[in-house]
Amino acid sequence: MKILVTGGLGYIGSHTVVELLEKGHEVVIIDNLYNSQKATHDKITAITHKPSTFVKMDATNYEGLKQLCKKHQFDGIIHFAGYKAVGESVAKPLMYYYNNLLSTITLARVAIEEGINKFIFSSSATVYGDGVSPLNEEAPLMERTNPYGETKAMSERILTDVAKANPTLNVILLRYFNPVGAHKSGLIGEVPNGTPNNLMPYITQVAKGLRDKLYIFGNDYPTIDGTGVRDYIHVVDLAKGHVAALEANKTGVNIYNLGTGKGTSVLELVNAFMSVNKVNIPYEITSRRAGDIATCYANVNKAKKELKWEAKYNVEDMVKDA
Ligand code: NAD
Ligand code: UFG
Repeated sequence: MKILVTGGLGYIGSHTVVELLEKGHEVVIIDNLYNSQKATHDKITAITHKPSTFVKMDATNYEGLKQLCKKHQFDGIIHFAGYKAVGESVAKPLMYYYNNLLSTITLARVAIEEGINKFIFSSSATVYGDGVSPLNEEAPLMERTNPYGETKAMSERILTDVAKANPTLNVILLRYFNPVGAHKSGLIGEVPNGTPNNLMPYITQVAKGLRDKLYIFGNDYPTIDGTGVRDYIHVVDLAKGHVAALEANKTGVNIYNLGTGKGTSVLELVNAFMSVNKVNIPYEITSRRAGDIATCYANVNKAKKELKWEAKYNVEDMVKDA
């Protein structure tokens, strides 16, 4: 299939482009390079030895997208482009609503007008809010505590309504749990700007000596050791989940959790990182981070059954590849 990948030079997008190319799909990437580098395209080519096209373009650029779609006749769109920093979204809500919603609206419009009938969207487990784990796709969408999470829930809603009104458009909403790790080549991975918000990139920066220690946000949660529990998933498994979703030929609107189904606490992850990589990670327990929940992990039966996909990598693989 010929696929338009938005945000395809970012962390999850670049890993997904690699998996698409490995499976013989044709890929055109658009990215505005807000949070990525053009050199990542060369690295994708170095890993796969397969050609793909990169066009620097904003996913809100209706005219540009129309031209691109007329030229390429895409079979599908995988839409990763967006902003993703929770704290920043609280400080700059308009920036998040504008970019994340307008890109989704523009792409959906172009997909309908140009007869592209597969649309895969990057959603997030954040839409489940403080729901009870294991979370399945039927779990109610709880109140979100930040604009970023709202843009995911709203984008899901917009795409669902658009697909209902346009039965030729088939939408898959993929709710990611906590993506970590990197491609085994070491050529692509997660490179956050400034201080990392997320646990794994913070740990890797401590391991590299860029930061003195890790701050663990609370050890008084009702969990195995008091620290927060999450469903970490290797980014390569996550990328393969997109290929499975694309190839599954589902019609209508379908929602899948992409996780491993296993919860891991902060301390368990830090200990695994230290023992697998034989490096010390000094840490200090501090107070809870506002908005954090105790536990979040997926029920992954639906993706297993309908997409014939499941995560293969375990926590040891994740901390090694990170
Ligand atoms: P990322 O920032 O590494 O990648 C996003 C890419 O989109 C970047 O290359 C950026 O330059 C580009 N971009 C942003 N706005 C754009 C626009 N208007 N036009 C064109 N390009 C644009 O982020 P990621 O971790 O790869 O996340 C990809 C998607 O998955 C995002 O939608 C994110 O919200 C979602 N997601 C991520 C996580 C996570 O923990 N990483 C979890 C759940 C959902
Ligand atoms: N944590 C620390 N110290 C840190 C960073 C995180 O102790 O420096 C803890 C958190 O308190 C939490 C766990 O590590 O218990 C994981 O935190 P992350 O920030 O890595 O991930 P979150 O689960 O908070 O959020 C992530 C993404 C969101 C997304 C959500 C669900 O950042 O965008 O997963 O997919 F919505």
